[in-house]
Amino acid sequence: MDFIDELKNLKEQIKFNQKFNITSEYDNIVISGMGGSGIVGDIFQEKFSKKPVITVGDYGIPEFVNERTVFIGISYSGNTEETLNNVDEAMKKNAHVYAITSGGKLADRVKNSIIIPSGLQPRSALGYMLMPLFNTFDPVDDDIIKKTYDILDSMDKNHDEMRREALKIYENSYIPIIFGSRPFKSVAYRWKTQFNENSKTFAFYNYFPELNHNDTMPLKKAYRRDEYRYYVFNSDNLRIQRRIEITQEITGESFNIITAPTNEYFEKLFYLIHYADYLTYELALVREVDPTDVSTIEELKSKLS
Ligand code: F6R
Repeated sequence: MDFIDELKNLKEQIKFNQKFNITSEYDNIVISGMGGSGIVGDIFQEKFSKKPVITVGDYGIPEFVNERTVFIGISYSGNTEETLNNVDEAMKKNAHVYAITSGGKLADRVKNSIIIPSGLQPRSALGYMLMPLFNTFDPVDDDIIKKTYDILDSMDKNHDEMRREALKIYENSYIPIIFGSRPFKSVAYRWKTQFNENSKTFAFYNYFPELNHNDTMPLKKAYRRDEYRYYVFNSDNLRIQRRIEITQEITGESFNIITAPTNEYFEKLFYLIHYADYLTYELALVREVDPTDVSTIEELKSKLS
């Protein structure tokens, strides 16, 4: 599948209806994954608050994991070392272990695995990996899925705005800086990683209100201030809106505000995700780099194995 077809596949992925059948009582949820698979747990954690959720993007699991923990390993390839290590540790502690993967060692090790379609870049399979979490713990109405599908479909048909933005980044050699806010801090991080992997460029992120306690200083006084382009997610929180306004006012910086067509959580989530998909894809094209290429990451993994 071409990378553009992978991007267009996202709208189908949100219809993926598999879920875990969790029958035992549990106290907490721990989700382990790296990179394009790890972001899935972070997005879910930021939204879901009915039970404690901890995400792990590293070797090692929290000490509290026990037989009353639901532990979910997410790895698109099913062969990510850190995630496999953590699944093994969770099994040793008798947690209820589940997995989301397209196969690999993870599928072999975890009986309760949801197997998702293979052949995509992990970062292009976000919908397949995220939906089982929502379907299991916090189902999304069909009506909202339909509306989100329509938003993604219209972005697939027309992403001129993102193409223009990509050109602007390229022509000015801008370094993108993304500022999110709850419940989309993880999406700001996803933007960063999409710039890294698709466009092969550095990008940085932070979120309101935290950035008002640190990044606000370089916003006004950074070395080479004209090298950055700021993308800021609009928020329906009045205090965050005020912070966005005042931050621009007192630093003299002008943010590029990204506004979704709706404030409904799920629709906005996928709008913001897909915006970055296209922006970073278009930046790869204009830079003449291959958006699918993750050869350096692969080389590193193979040297470690
Ligand atoms: C994203 C990507 C990487 C991987 C990461 C973990 O497209 O290629 O960020 O997601 O290296 O690998 P998996 O997802 O297979 O566990």
